[in-house]
Amino acid sequence: MTVPAGGPESWPTHHSKALYARARRTITDGTSRTTLLRKGKHPIYVDHGEGAWVTDVDGNRYLDCNNNFASIIIGHADPVIAGAVQARLARGTAFSLPTDAEIELAELLCERVESFELIRFCNSGTEAVMAALKAARAYTGRPNIIKAEGAYHGTYDHAEASLSPNPTNWGQAVAPATVPYSAGTPASVADEVTVISFNDIEGARDAIHRSGDRLAAVLLDVMPNRVGMPVIESEYVRAIRDATRAVGALLVLDEVISFRLGYGGAQTQLCVDPDITALAKIIGGGFPVGAVAGRRGPMEVFVRSGGGQAKVPSGGTFAANPITMAAGHAAMAQLDGNAFARLDAVGERVRCGLRTVIARAGLDWQVTGAGSLFRVHPHNRTIRNYRDAHLSSDEAAQISEFGLRMQSHGVYFVAESLGCLNLATADSDVEHLLGAAEASLANS
Ligand SMILES: Cc1ncc(COP(=O)(O)O)c(C=O)c1O
Repeated sequence: MTVPAGGPESWPTHHSKALYARARRTITDGTSRTTLLRKGKHPIYVDHGEGAWVTDVDGNRYLDCNNNFASIIIGHADPVIAGAVQARLARGTAFSLPTDAEIELAELLCERVESFELIRFCNSGTEAVMAALKAARAYTGRPNIIKAEGAYHGTYDHAEASLSPNPTNWGQAVAPATVPYSAGTPASVADEVTVISFNDIEGARDAIHRSGDRLAAVLLDVMPNRVGMPVIESEYVRAIRDATRAVGALLVLDEVISFRLGYGGAQTQLCVDPDITALAKIIGGGFPVGAVAGRRGPMEVFVRSGGGQAKVPSGGTFAANPITMAAGHAAMAQLDGNAFARLDAVGERVRCGLRTVIARAGLDWQVTGAGSLFRVHPHNRTIRNYRDAHLSSDEAAQISEFGLRMQSHGVYFVAESLGCLNLATADSDVEHLLGAAEASLANS
């Protein structure tokens, strides 16, 4: 049965429910991805996707406003990507020999971004950030990392410090505490990671100079989702870049998501000059991917000099496999200036439209984001950092309810997280999204 988009409030999801019950018997928590679980709800199991839409196993259709956490940018089941993958599939999927597909994607990416003098592929954003931090440590011979409070950079111990602190443990705003995220994180991680507040120029400068000759790198995402997708203040980036240079540390930019903001990523738009960049998501064309790219000097820690061991040996059974490389190339080659202009336009229509719908509903909510990304906040506090965006339990319940209502109106939107659109999103889809938001906010 196919239920038309915008259909009844309570769509049948019994096939999804049964699958989740079955999954819980063998998979921890019923899913390998914590991010797919909603409180008190079973996940929706997808049957297939096409363009901007996904259809679940019960036949319900949803406009996809998450796009696998911002990794799908062209659209689901894109025929160009599918064709490139099929051509490669017929020739084998993975070898302990390199292929030209790796070179083609490397060349495409290095041509687009000034700071990408050398690149190296891996399989996820987590791995890319880990490799970038290891490279920074090896290059500088120093142990310490600085990162922004609340920013998500994957699940490497140092990168996930202070991902989700709360008022009981986050310490002072001027010098946030380093709070381990996973149980079992060694205490030494807290000694090696200093946390700064996003957009706090003085705090960042201070932390960098205090860390001084022990600082390997500042790890920075210019539009961190979990920090609320605030606008980064240009003075903040400049201060970090200048201070890292002054103490001989590196700037590692995490463009795992923000690379979708423009042809040369966010760094080109903002004129930031990182030493190393971590990439993932869109560069794999829908397949698992990661990459670390950057200036020749720090990237050379991955090079085996004179046949000896590299400073940072790195491999990975599936790193740069030809299927991912071909898919990534087929996706990225479609993303020219016009494609980014369309993504910006559709994103702007959604952000403006949501603001209008929210105002009409008489709510004091706000929408942040840029390009094809957006985030809805159930409050009107000015958001400059993680603490401004941090939700009270009432606010968390409101935004979660909004997401579930959107789902029942045919929009898959992880309201507690980022909203993300793909290139296949048509004007009529934007109308559908805004109609769903209007219906979801009625009487809330
Ligand atoms: C900014 C950022 N960095 C790193 C990661 C980790 O990427 P992956 O999930 O591919 O390991 C993510 C994932 O969402 C991310 O948003």
